[in-house]
Amino acid sequence: MTFRFVRNALSLLLAATALQALAQDFPNRAITMVMPYAAGGPGDTITRVFAGAMQKHLGQQIVVDNTAGASGSIGTAKVARSKPDGYNLLMIHVSHATNVAMYKSLPYHPVDDFDPIGRATSGPMVIVTRNDFPAKNLNEFVAYVKANGPKVSLAHAGVGSASHLCGLMMMNALNVKMNEIPYKGTGPALTDLMGGQVDVLCDQTSGTVPSVKTGKIKAYAAAGKARLPQLPEVPAISEAGVEGFDINISFGLYAPKGTPKPVLAQLTGALQKSVGDSEVRQRLEAMGISAVSVDQATPEALRSHLKNEIDTLGGLLVKAGVKAN
Ligand code: MLT
Repeated sequence: MTFRFVRNALSLLLAATALQALAQDFPNRAITMVMPYAAGGPGDTITRVFAGAMQKHLGQQIVVDNTAGASGSIGTAKVARSKPDGYNLLMIHVSHATNVAMYKSLPYHPVDDFDPIGRATSGPMVIVTRNDFPAKNLNEFVAYVKANGPKVSLAHAGVGSASHLCGLMMMNALNVKMNEIPYKGTGPALTDLMGGQVDVLCDQTSGTVPSVKTGKIKAYAAAGKARLPQLPEVPAISEAGVEGFDINISFGLYAPKGTPKPVLAQLTGALQKSVGDSEVRQRLEAMGISAVSVDQATPEALRSHLKNEIDTLGGLLVKAGVKAN
């Protein structure tokens, strides 16, 4: 047995012991959960629900960090290069899949640089406008957008974001090009919609449903085949004969690659307790969002969901000739 062999074995033993100690002691301080879109938007709302629920189960504060910009890739890169010790997490949706197709020089890979913790939510989208938009119903909305396409401004949260994908599907389905206005998130986009600075937004329900119910904005259609239980009077876009347009947005939780397995298991456990928590489920449902089932709040389920989105949506955007840079 050579000296080098003994030395290597010892350092491996030391590393394993240190990892064990870290895992046993996890968490012993506040955790940061990065939501890479602006505060006040659907991503922020969902992240704060899970930060609140998971901190109960982990016994440590979870701080939400809204490092926004470049369709979520700036905040995502921050987590990718952070220490893989369980204290830096990422809550993100479809843009984790689309950014790799959109950005030539992305400083991370969505699969290779992250350890999935589990899926969290799934939810529909709705097409809304400023309150004084000149259309009385869905058919008039479709006719107006078809007739005025480039003069109608469409807000979204950057290429490859959920609101951009929905906007793209709407433009493809109506065969029009609208005037796209990018934001750092749909939170600020919704504020401008309420102020009449922009015309149309296709967004998730957490922000839009309360604003429609309080009459601050108008809803024309659920972006899919089914009406939303929260807005039963609002038709589904398919009711206007618009086909091939059905979008659902899922959020998932990730850690940087190399996070110790026992720590990942603790985080997955806390996420599973949170999606199983009836109070969490009710809060999300009131906003039109579903917490996934416990068996979906797993690394395997998130890994295959991400792969599927990279294969399908990434390809869709490239085919549409959409590029970020
Ligand atoms: C947000 O949180 O602002 C949205 O999820 C952004 C988007 O439309 O993807």
